[in-house]
Amino acid sequence: MLASSFENIIDKGDEILITAMEHHSNLVPWQQLCFKKDAKLKVVPITDEGDLDMEFLDSMLSEKVKLLAFAHISNVMGTINPVKEITAKAHKFGIPVVIDGAQAVAHAKVDVMDLDCEFYCFSAHKAYGPMGMGVLYGKQQWLNNLQPYQYGGEMISTVSFEKTTFNELPYKFEAGTPNVEGALAMAEAFRYIDNIGIGNIVEHEDALLKYATEKLTEIDGMRIIGRSKNKTSVISFLVGDIHPYDMGTLLDQMGVAVRTGNHCAQPLIDNFCIPGTVRASFAVYNSREEVDYFIGALRKSLAMLA
Ligand SMILES: Cc1ncc(COP(=O)(O)O)c(C=O)c1O
Repeated sequence: MLASSFENIIDKGDEILITAMEHHSNLVPWQQLCFKKDAKLKVVPITDEGDLDMEFLDSMLSEKVKLLAFAHISNVMGTINPVKEITAKAHKFGIPVVIDGAQAVAHAKVDVMDLDCEFYCFSAHKAYGPMGMGVLYGKQQWLNNLQPYQYGGEMISTVSFEKTTFNELPYKFEAGTPNVEGALAMAEAFRYIDNIGIGNIVEHEDALLKYATEKLTEIDGMRIIGRSKNKTSVISFLVGDIHPYDMGTLLDQMGVAVRTGNHCAQPLIDNFCIPGTVRASFAVYNSREEVDYFIGALRKSLAMLA
């Protein structure tokens, strides 16, 4: 939606910056916009540990950059990016910042006013809510200046055969009959998170991350992809040359739900020259006992695959 609305802002020769750790959903829209407008998509590289290369970022910022879009937290490596610091760097050049918070809202405290970003977006289904639903936060003056990305009912103020005037925010961006039940379900999901308290969630998930990382590190041939000092409870890994799909299939048969493959971040996986990863992610409802069960199942599957 945002990439469509930015069509009247991006011109030939402009640059859009993203990072090497983006989910396809924060890459493909900007890439296609660049194709359409003959603009340049530039990619901030990452270190071997899976952190953004901040010095490289500094060297890429300039007046030519018209937008910086990056993930708050990497869905593959769990890296928590220094969003406030990055936003401040971009603002020195007057660059608006779009943050993909899909992996952050259920696992970290987010305060958009403090971050001072122009836009912050996330999907409800990453925060125990319904699919096909999400939030785009934007600073009012930016949203006022952007063109609507879809036309139809609700988003209009007046319509005649000669011309249409658009509704005020947020209706301007909400063409058609709204997904009311989705919005209610999403609000309930956020009440669930608020009732537990994001601080308690972070504490619990951090403990599981530390425990699981220790246990995984004891396994011969273990390679963890994403070793940032500042990360959330996601562990992507490979063991020896075992294909992630084989490991994932056996874990699945033992009742452990991991995700395998490129995690919708193909360029990031290519960056590490690997076939994909097995990704274990821990949420507020997981326990230490489940980590033990997972490690036991992993050891069993390794014995079968060795
Ligand atoms: C970091 C990140 N961004 C974006 C998305 C995609 O969200 P959606 O499929 O709702 O566009 C996901 C996960 O699906 C994600 O992990």
